[in-house]
Amino acid sequence: PGDPLVDTHGRVHRDLRISLTDRCSLRCTYCMPDQGNEWLARSSILTTDEIARVAGVAAAAGVTTFRLTGGEPLLRPDIVDVVSRIAALRDASGDPVHVAMTTNGIRLGEFLPDLIDAGLARVNISLDTIRRDRFRELTRRDRLDDVLDGIAAARDSGLRPLKINAVAMRDVNDDEIVDLVEFAISQDAQMRFIEQMPLDAGHTWDRGRMVTRAEILDALSTRWALAEVPGRGGAPAERWTLDGGPHTVGVIASVTAPFCGDCDRMRLTADGQFRNCLFSTTEYDLLPILRADEASDDGIDGLLRTCVRGKLPGHAINDPSFLQPTRGMNAIGG
Ligand code: GTP
Ligand code: 5AD
Ligand code: SF4
Repeated sequence: PGDPLVDTHGRVHRDLRISLTDRCSLRCTYCMPDQGNEWLARSSILTTDEIARVAGVAAAAGVTTFRLTGGEPLLRPDIVDVVSRIAALRDASGDPVHVAMTTNGIRLGEFLPDLIDAGLARVNISLDTIRRDRFRELTRRDRLDDVLDGIAAARDSGLRPLKINAVAMRDVNDDEIVDLVEFAISQDAQMRFIEQMPLDAGHTWDRGRMVTRAEILDALSTRWALAEVPGRGGAPAERWTLDGGPHTVGVIASVTAPFCGDCDRMRLTADGQFRNCLFSTTEYDLLPILRADEASDDGIDGLLRTCVRGKLPGHAINDPSFLQPTRGMNAIGG
C-alpha cells in the first residue's frame, strides 16, 4: 500500500472509471438490443458504501481521477451521494480528487445543481446525432429533446471543459460530422468523434465499415483548417484547433491509432469486478473481499495491484486472433 500503481510496462495508473449500473435509458443499436440485456443481479451491484470504500483505497494508492460511467450513471438513485462520497476523498498527495461523469444527458439538468454541490467537476455527454428521426432510430427512444436539455444545463452550469462524444458510424451519422461540431460550438462544448470499437453486445462490429480517424479528419477539413494541439498526455483524444481556434475538435482513434502505450486507467464494473482494460478477458472479483466478514482495505488494495500487474501492453483489436470481451460496453463501463 502507498506505492504508485505501476504495471509491468511502466505505466502509472491514476484514473479509475467506475461503472455504476449496466442499465440505460436509451438502447443505442450498437450497444444493446431493444429489450435490453440480461441485467446484472441487483445483489451483485455495489452499494454506495462499497463504492466509496473502494474509491478510498484507490485514492490512497495514487488514483487522482474518478470517472463515473454506466450504462447510464444518472439511473442510480444514489448518484448524488456517490459523487459526494468520492469527491470528499484526497489523493495520495493530500489534494482533492477529481470526479467526472460520462452520461447520455437525460435528466442531467434536474441533477446537475446537486451534483455540482456534491463536488462533480466535469461531464462528458454522448450524442451521436442531432436529427430527431435519426436519434429515435439509433437509440430506439424519442428523447433527443431530453438530451439537448441536459446539454443546455451543462452549458449553463459552467462546468468546463464540456465534451460531447459521438461514435462515428458509416451511413448512420458520418454525414453529420460538421453539423455536430457546429452544434457543440453553439453549446460552448468540445466535440469528439470516436472510432467504433468491437464492444457491441451483438458482436456485429465490422472493421471495413468503421469510420476511421483519417475519414473523420477529411470530413472536418472540408469546413475548417485543422492544426494539431500538442501535449495530449495520456488522454485518449487527439485534438485539433478549428481555423486557428479557440474552438477545438477531438478524435478518439482507439482502433487505427491506439493510445494504449500511455494508458493510465483501470475500471471497476457495477458488479464489483476490477478490469485493467476495456478489452481484458480477465476480471478481478472484489465481491468476496468486500463482503467478507472482516473485509480489509489491504485486500482491496492487493486485488487492485494484482489487476494492474496483469495488464497487457495494449489491446489486440488489430491482431487476427482478437477475441471480443463477452460483456458489452454497457456492462464494462464506457
Ligand atoms: P476526458 O477526461 O474528458 O478526456 O474523458 P475520457 O475521454 O477519458 O472519457 P469518456 O468517458 O468521455 O470517454 C470517451 C470515449 O473514449 C469512450 O467512449 C471510449 O470510446 C474511449 N475510451 C475511454 N477509455 C478508454 C480506454 O481505456 N481504452 C480505449 N480504447 N478507449 C477508451
Ligand atoms: N465503440 C466506441 N464507443 C462506444 N460507446 C459505446 N459503445 C461504443 C463502441 N463500441 C460510447 C458511447 C458513449 C461512450 C460512453 O462510449 O457512445 O459516448
Ligand atoms: Fe446507453 Fe451508452 Fe449504451 Fe447508448 S451507448 S445504450 S447511451 S450505455
